[in-house]
Amino acid sequence: MCGIIGFTGRSQAKDILVEGLTRMEYRGYDSAGVALEVAGADGEARLDVIRRVGKVAGLASELEGYKDESTCGIGHTRWATHGRPSTANAHPHTSCDGRIAVVHNGIVENFAELREELQDRGHEFKSDTDTEVFAHLIEEAYGCEGDLMAAVREAVSQVAGAYGLAAVCADEPGTIAVARKDSPIIIGMGEMGAYVASDVIALIDATRDVVVLADDQFAKLTPEGIECTDSEGRAIQPEVTHVDWDLDMAEKGGYPDFMLKEIHEQPRVVRDTLVGRMSANGELDIDELGLSLQELNDIDRVYVIACGTSYHAGLVAKNVIEGWARIPCEVEAASEFRYRDPIITPSTLVVAVSQSGETADTLAAIRDARIKGAKVFGITNVVGSPVARESDGVIYTKANKEIAVASTKSFIGQIVSLMLLALLLAQVKYRLSTKTARMLFRELGDTAEQIQRILDESSDSIHEAAEAVAPAHSALFVGRGMGAAIAYEGALKLKEVSYLHAEAYAAGEMKHGPIALIEPGFPVIAVATKSPTYDKVVSNLMECRARGAVVVTVATEGDEEIKKIADHVIYIPQVRDCFSPITASVPLQLLAREAALLRGCDVDQPRNLAKSVTVE
Ligand code: G6P
Repeated sequence: MCGIIGFTGRSQAKDILVEGLTRMEYRGYDSAGVALEVAGADGEARLDVIRRVGKVAGLASELEGYKDESTCGIGHTRWATHGRPSTANAHPHTSCDGRIAVVHNGIVENFAELREELQDRGHEFKSDTDTEVFAHLIEEAYGCEGDLMAAVREAVSQVAGAYGLAAVCADEPGTIAVARKDSPIIIGMGEMGAYVASDVIALIDATRDVVVLADDQFAKLTPEGIECTDSEGRAIQPEVTHVDWDLDMAEKGGYPDFMLKEIHEQPRVVRDTLVGRMSANGELDIDELGLSLQELNDIDRVYVIACGTSYHAGLVAKNVIEGWARIPCEVEAASEFRYRDPIITPSTLVVAVSQSGETADTLAAIRDARIKGAKVFGITNVVGSPVARESDGVIYTKANKEIAVASTKSFIGQIVSLMLLALLLAQVKYRLSTKTARMLFRELGDTAEQIQRILDESSDSIHEAAEAVAPAHSALFVGRGMGAAIAYEGALKLKEVSYLHAEAYAAGEMKHGPIALIEPGFPVIAVATKSPTYDKVVSNLMECRARGAVVVTVATEGDEEIKKIADHVIYIPQVRDCFSPITASVPLQLLAREAALLRGCDVDQPRNLAKSVTVE
């Protein structure tokens, strides 16, 4: 997630900006920059923009030599979503005349149209980012209004999407204009002046009384104070919140650990991964398609290759790639794929799934597949990562930086992205009508809301189930179809964070072995949502129950029958079966975390595990 900072007051701005950016660096970065207002030799104010690719420390050392005593500026640490990490794509972005600078978090959905219109009117773009349209829109509006706050209001009225935005203008020294919609903005008045940030962590040294700007609210910051307004420019009295978090809590957004914070980010991940992806006429927009429609149409076999949790996202993908696009699909651990001799032709598509985009086995498998002539599509969370660079096409998962070692929000972003790819293949091959594709796309988006309901309503039942699982020595996860894929990921999560041995099995295979493990008190965790195989799963659970297993189920709301065979039921909203991995995974993530906490484990940094495995 990108970070925004801004300061105007009676102190050197550059140190405050660098400190704020450093505090926000844990959220992910690929570049950083500041815009500082300074007085030129001729007495006229100007903006100095200094940007660097890499860590904030690089920017800080560049700024050490910077002598101007600027007391107003904005800064940004970037985690790329549009455009590769580069100096030109780093924020702040400036207007043509360089007198307006902006920093932005969020996504401008209509940026392609806006950019074209602005170019037609003579604006020159210097970056590939969506953000830059703000600088030019504000520049145009400022020409008419002569007032930065009014110009920002006018500019954002033309934008569809999400923004947390801060802008400065050399012609209004000391003013920072701020706007917010669907992306956090926090403002506060400290002893030395007024501050804005996208994360409370950047402000807590200056003030603990902050205003969390609401959607469609604006703020004008000057050294004297802060004025908040609505979209019509009418003054509003914002609510002040007192923050008593320590630094550690602030980093985690008030959650006790990153894992929980990231689980709670999942509704946003679904929304961000889908935003702007489908046009009104049902066409899909993929980040970097890299393959012609003819090449996509020619595809007759798909391999999904990945490791760990990403491999489980592949198991889900197999169901929709075969179900919607009717293309045979195999899912393989990249570490196996690279040492086999898989059947690859020019009409084979290899889909490489990697949160980090740098897992050694996945990269080696991509290289091998390309040598053999396959087309490669990457699904990754990191713009410009090796997986992105070495693939023909890419979809970015928009999960933002994931800090907890056990992957949660990236998994959900991967499933959503793989479903987009499956829809694309299905459309290109005319296997789904535009109407059906639109309906599936809409339902996919609805899962954001459904995850939110699970997060809001299921904590008691999950806690009770965790109390039953935590004392065990081993646990079995079962499901069928989509439920089996979810079971594999559920077992992996439990193993990773609680060190409890867990195994997942397709429920129908239980009787061929794993049932021998069951003795009184043995936990069996089942995905038993309403699906075409629901009755079969229920019979499998009866067999477990008859042998004394403690049965925990993830079931569909309204299913009262399941209570007869389950000791613990975690209800989730009803969704079409193909979307159940997105919703049903969430309670299993929470269950793993709760069990781990009951067992005294560090859920963010489990022993022996690394976030990204760059060696074989
Ligand atoms: C490590 C991480 C897992 C992750 C796997 C694959 O094992 O601990 O959480 O699923 O690598 O990583 P990737 O970045 O390729 O998705």
